[in-house]
Amino acid sequence: MRRRLRTITEVSSGQLHKVYNSFDIVGDIAIIKLPSNATEKEAQLVSKTIMNRHKNVKTVLLQTSPVMGELRLRRLIHLAGENRTITVHKEFGCLFKVDLAKCYFSPRLSHERKRIATLVNPNETIINMFAGVGCFSIIIARHSKAAKVVSIDVNPTAVQFMQENIMLNRVYNKVFPVIGDAKEVIGIQLKGKADRVLMPLPGKSLEYLPYAISALKASGGWIHYYGFEHATKIENPMEKVKFKIINALSALNINFEEPIVRIVRSTGPNWFQLAVDIHILFN
Ligand SMILES: C[S@@+](CC[C@H](N)C(=O)[O-])C[C@H]1O[C@@H](n2cnc3c(N)ncnc32)[C@H](O)[C@@H]1O
Repeated sequence: MRRRLRTITEVSSGQLHKVYNSFDIVGDIAIIKLPSNATEKEAQLVSKTIMNRHKNVKTVLLQTSPVMGELRLRRLIHLAGENRTITVHKEFGCLFKVDLAKCYFSPRLSHERKRIATLVNPNETIINMFAGVGCFSIIIARHSKAAKVVSIDVNPTAVQFMQENIMLNRVYNKVFPVIGDAKEVIGIQLKGKADRVLMPLPGKSLEYLPYAISALKASGGWIHYYGFEHATKIENPMEKVKFKIINALSALNINFEEPIVRIVRSTGPNWFQLAVDIHILFN
């Protein structure tokens, strides 16, 4: 009797596995993607199954568009549980409050955020050009001895949440939020100030690379560049992104060490997100 009830109210592990490929839990909200031909009934069954198996999940949202536009937002539809898009996510002892409908957030970058924090030297000044709700900046502030992390974002709602997160994580003496276009903010107030610059916006990294360079101190420093790259089976995405960066830096007549490239994750068939650590020397 009990078994029969299970088959009626839950989807099979096989079906759920397909959903799990594109399944994120942010705080107590699950975000799922379903095949475009999925019915409302199937969507409800998947939601119910997730809530049964993950007792901490209070809301299930369906993602119906890719992450898109300047603010890197996605369309979300409420499927089950509490009807809300705001949650608090915990990562490496830090708390991040976020409105998933109005700000970018991905739990898939957590290891990358921690990796960058481990590279930071004591007393560094860091500029995060695309800071969102402050994840990279706050992880760095809490897990390194950085002096300060100036954290820019063009989305006023993301900056509002960043301000809340700065209070939540008590890093108000280290993380300084700024609203605006990173290009303009650097041009007006941050030229020659940084030991390290973060560029966690793959779609704009190449265009904004000259501004990241202008933000570095005269003694040089590090740029953490993120890019998306398409690569067929016979191509190497790491070599492709390295080639682009070396070309861009050479055109600017900048002195640099060989960039260190790693694949952060695959973002689709033959698509990769890459992290490139660039040591700029200047002279
Ligand atoms: C991919 S998200 C990364 C956010 C954050 N670093 C994280 O990992 O959660 C990129 C962010 O860049 C912001 N953005 C887009 N264009 C920008 C610009 N020109 N200047 C500053 N921020 C920008 C978006 O609002 C978004 O929050």
